[in-house]
Amino acid sequence: MSQERKAIMVKGLRKRYESVKAVDGISFQVEAGELFGMVGPNGSGKTTTIECIEGLRQPDEGQVRVLDLDPWQEAYELRERTGIQLQSANLPRRMRVEEALDLFASFYRHPSDWHPLLEGLGLGDKRRAFFSQLSGGQKQRLFVALALINQPELVFLDELTTGLDPRARHAIWDLVRGIREQGTTVFLTTHFMDEAERLCDRVAILDHGRIIALDTPANLVSQLGMATRIAFQVNDHTGSAQKDGGSESSAAVFDAARIGVIDGVQRVEQEADQVLVYGQGAGLVGAVVTTLETNGVPFLNLRTEQADLEDVFLKLTGREIDN
Ligand SMILES: Nc1ncnc2c1ncn2[C@@H]1O[C@H](COP(=O)(O)OP(=O)(O)OP(=O)(O)O)[C@@H](O)[C@H]1O
Ligand SMILES: [Mg+2]
Repeated sequence: MSQERKAIMVKGLRKRYESVKAVDGISFQVEAGELFGMVGPNGSGKTTTIECIEGLRQPDEGQVRVLDLDPWQEAYELRERTGIQLQSANLPRRMRVEEALDLFASFYRHPSDWHPLLEGLGLGDKRRAFFSQLSGGQKQRLFVALALINQPELVFLDELTTGLDPRARHAIWDLVRGIREQGTTVFLTTHFMDEAERLCDRVAILDHGRIIALDTPANLVSQLGMATRIAFQVNDHTGSAQKDGGSESSAAVFDAARIGVIDGVQRVEQEADQVLVYGQGAGLVGAVVTTLETNGVPFLNLRTEQADLEDVFLKLTGREIDN
């Protein structure tokens, strides 16, 4: 049945720690080959959820199936077929990179040759380095390598890029896309909305242990119905100059009405030389630029602002994600 295509099935999952309802009844499925993300603020239950799915924590209630296995009862089989990168992983300071890889490879029946893996992760020259000699980004990449060493069908990545600089983040993103392109299912958690938006096929937004939205990033954003905002500057002195007896410039005066009639434009605001156009639709920006150009209106510093997953979170919860 189609169930075979599901890499993960979660139904009614609950987990509490004394008075804290860390995961409060969540259900979702992840397709085989999908890059699925769970995003939410600190303490929203991401790690608890991922660890229940990995078979590292036992749920209080609910059903979890991973690669059609019960992660708690069939942990050994699951371990062979999945890769896990933990949020707070560590290794002995004096363990060399190659020793860590050999050790982890020895845990599995079918380990991959880690040499090309290490090269692919840009750590080829760090083979002999001690763990303590690696930078934060290099450690993170090593943990990704260790999560991939058993050639898993499904890899779990918990807080992939926390603490990394922008370059290292981009490198890790490329890496994750590469893993997925090879057919591996990826389940990741992050509290960076932009990371989820750029990387994931579908995103579940978690808040206080509940899924408050689940869809593709594009659908989540478009369901907001929020306008695109186009901002630019025009030549403001033309209006006053003309009243004083004509402008020397041949540039046309900005006329908000001409922009207002464009398909998809909802509103035009002008204050001095600053113009803001609100609207919706794929061709909006192109149409505004074309109208300005065909009317000979010079403009400067045009930029567009689009709604993103941060806005989705804000709309659903009434607060910023890092609150
Ligand atoms: N072992 C534990 N014992 C008691 N409470 C816990 C334990 N692990 C997590 N919690 C609590 O459960 C809630 C969810 O924590 P969890 O680690 O799942 O969140 P998270 O979304 O992964 O957060 P972060 O973004 O900070 O990693 C928090 O309130 C946390 O304090
Ligand atoms: Mg966590």
